[in-house]
Amino acid sequence: MRMSAMLSLLICAGVSSAQAPTFNKDVAPILFAQCATCHRPGEAAPFALLKYEDAKKRGKLIAQVTQSKQMPPWKADKSDFAFRNERRLSEAQIATLQKWVAAGMVEGDKNDLPPAPTFASEWALGKPDLVVKMPKAFKVPAEGKDIYRNFAIALNLNDDKWVRAVDFRPSASSVVHHTLFFLDTTGTAAKKEADSGQVGSSGAMGGFRVPKGGLGGLGSLTGSGGGQPGSLGGWALGAQARSLPDGLAWKLPKGSDLILSTHFHPSGKAEMEASTIALYFSDKPPTKRFTGLQLPIAFGFAAGIDIPAGKKDFSIEDSFVLPVDVKAFGISAHAHYIAKTFNVTATLPDKKTKTLLKISDWDFGWQEQYRFQDYVDLPKGTKIDAKITYDNSADNPRNPTNPPRRVRWGKESTDEMGSITLSVIAAQEPEFSELQKGYQQHLIAAIRKFGGKK
Ligand code: HEC
Repeated sequence: MRMSAMLSLLICAGVSSAQAPTFNKDVAPILFAQCATCHRPGEAAPFALLKYEDAKKRGKLIAQVTQSKQMPPWKADKSDFAFRNERRLSEAQIATLQKWVAAGMVEGDKNDLPPAPTFASEWALGKPDLVVKMPKAFKVPAEGKDIYRNFAIALNLNDDKWVRAVDFRPSASSVVHHTLFFLDTTGTAAKKEADSGQVGSSGAMGGFRVPKGGLGGLGSLTGSGGGQPGSLGGWALGAQARSLPDGLAWKLPKGSDLILSTHFHPSGKAEMEASTIALYFSDKPPTKRFTGLQLPIAFGFAAGIDIPAGKKDFSIEDSFVLPVDVKAFGISAHAHYIAKTFNVTATLPDKKTKTLLKISDWDFGWQEQYRFQDYVDLPKGTKIDAKITYDNSADNPRNPTNPPRRVRWGKESTDEMGSITLSVIAAQEPEFSELQKGYQQHLIAAIRKFGGKK
């Protein structure tokens, strides 16, 4: 086995036997560091990649999906600012996996094997401070329209808390498209649910609405924005939970119920959904406020998304000039199936243009929250430009309708949306209100302009 492996390596790759990668020495460190967070029991991926046998069984597929960059999932191209949650493999790591497979997947010396990664908890961020679950499962039928439903969960907290992270686990991930987390201090949602005698309730909080305090709160869809009171961010397909940066937190008033506002997309098979939510508290109150600047506003509601059947290059854009000095800590993108590219730039007052986020091959399945390595300084007068393109032709393999049909803005996942959310703080905390005011004006202007066109 060893001989033939070395031999085929010599023939295929033309390298000396000294360089033959082995699982224990070369491959395990890559899988442990870059794959095991998801590829372990209980996590999102369908199989574990922790043992030699796991990797050997799927060696060819591993070589293929790492070469094509389908795995680890990471949709952002290189841009001007590094992301701290970047999970792309280096070219050297990709080459090692290729060579290992080509050389016959040698196990190697047991002494070379690093210790398997340990995880403090089955949750990615470690042991949560509070875990709650929907008391009753909700039945999602096999067929039919998308469903928006609110579920009230009692938290039974006697003190105010500050929340630095929320993680979410659907029990039927094939039908859960996204969830927004809200807080209800009035008991209204719980009462509505109890009175109806059903699991969950429809209306107000579900789907698209204008929360008190403006649409900025909706920037929380993928959990990276949404400093608005009453919001705790959200979860979307493929998103990994992240803690807010130091000094930032959501307020969780005592006695609040947690409201999950969930969007379901029937999958062809009836499913029961009972979501589990993990909360992480911060021991100190926040020192700064944060918000999500969403462009175009409201998931593209007023951006004129109306894409003719067959159109290959439809696009929407929006820009916003920062009214105060800002520091950005994260960025996320949201759209449905036929979006193709995202491009977000910052043109600084000195006219230099920097790329904040570029996605050349959007995938509905991976709605990542990108966190900058360090705060990105964006001085007053910086112009943020966001452009999103769509391909509604039959050539787009991700088009859910064939032959294509006209697609407009809407809540169904076969409708479209499109926006980015830049999560920011004001560089000078007292200027936060001015930042909010500037964004509100942008929002009102966009809605007026849209109304005028109708
Ligand atoms: C963020 C979570 C995550 C990480 C990190 C991750 N995977 Fe995956 N992987 C998944 C999920 C979820 C699936 C199943 C859905 C899919 O194929 O997109 C998957 C599927 C796969 C498949 C099957 C693909 C197919 O077409 O059937 C392979 C092989 C794979 N991953 C290898 C890897 C390797 C190797 C790494 C590390 C270099 C890695 N993955 C890192 C989540 C992850």
